[in-house]
Amino acid sequence: MKRLAPSILSADFSRLGEAVQEIEQGGAHFIHVDVMDGHFVPNISYGSVVVKSLLGKSALPFDVHLMIENPDQYLEDFANPQTEYITVHQEACPHLHRTVKHIQSLGIKAGVSINPATPVWTLKEILPEVDLVLLMSVNPGFGGQCFIPGTLEKLRELKEMKKSLGLNFSIEMDGGLDETNVKTVVDQGVDLVVMGSSIYKQADVTARTKEIIALMNGEER
Ligand code: DX5
Ligand code: ZN
Repeated sequence: MKRLAPSILSADFSRLGEAVQEIEQGGAHFIHVDVMDGHFVPNISYGSVVVKSLLGKSALPFDVHLMIENPDQYLEDFANPQTEYITVHQEACPHLHRTVKHIQSLGIKAGVSINPATPVWTLKEILPEVDLVLLMSVNPGFGGQCFIPGTLEKLRELKEMKKSLGLNFSIEMDGGLDETNVKTVVDQGVDLVVMGSSIYKQADVTARTKEIIALMNGEER
């Protein structure tokens, strides 16, 4: 099943509780949580205290995307009962295998992400261990950027590698996705779609969530 993970990075931070309820009512599958440290990426978003404040505000699982250096130091803080995935960046983890195993030891599914300029082949050795691969389709740090088209070639390569190695991790894509390209990436093999500004910059977030899910499923509306 294709799933939608709206990113609260583009939501109104003064009313995050309502913001997650709006996407839940629209049928979203995850809350995508973008954590930025001002070092790995040139922006600071929010940390584990803010994420914990969302516990119980909806029944949606957290899909935590750590755009931070030294993520190992903070994994316990993000391993909440509602957390399904924690994704770290390959570029930020010199001991990626250890970090992936650390996440899984907390009972959380482990994801690994790569930036647009990082080749897919750099993941080959870690792929058998991961639950999810997140392909960044913008340079991480900000919402509302334009989709980088070369990501589609990386998606093709990743799918080939997955098939040839006989693996079954999920593939997620994040950045610059909207109503014009979501169907294309889903048709080409993305299982989990992240969408920030295109959901939260709309007046009716619930209706927009429903609309995007219908597009992902190829339904006419
Ligand atoms: C970018 C973040 C994304 C971001 C996506 O650094 O990882 O999750 O919120 O936002 P849009 O959909 O606006 O590109
Ligand atoms: Zn993200």
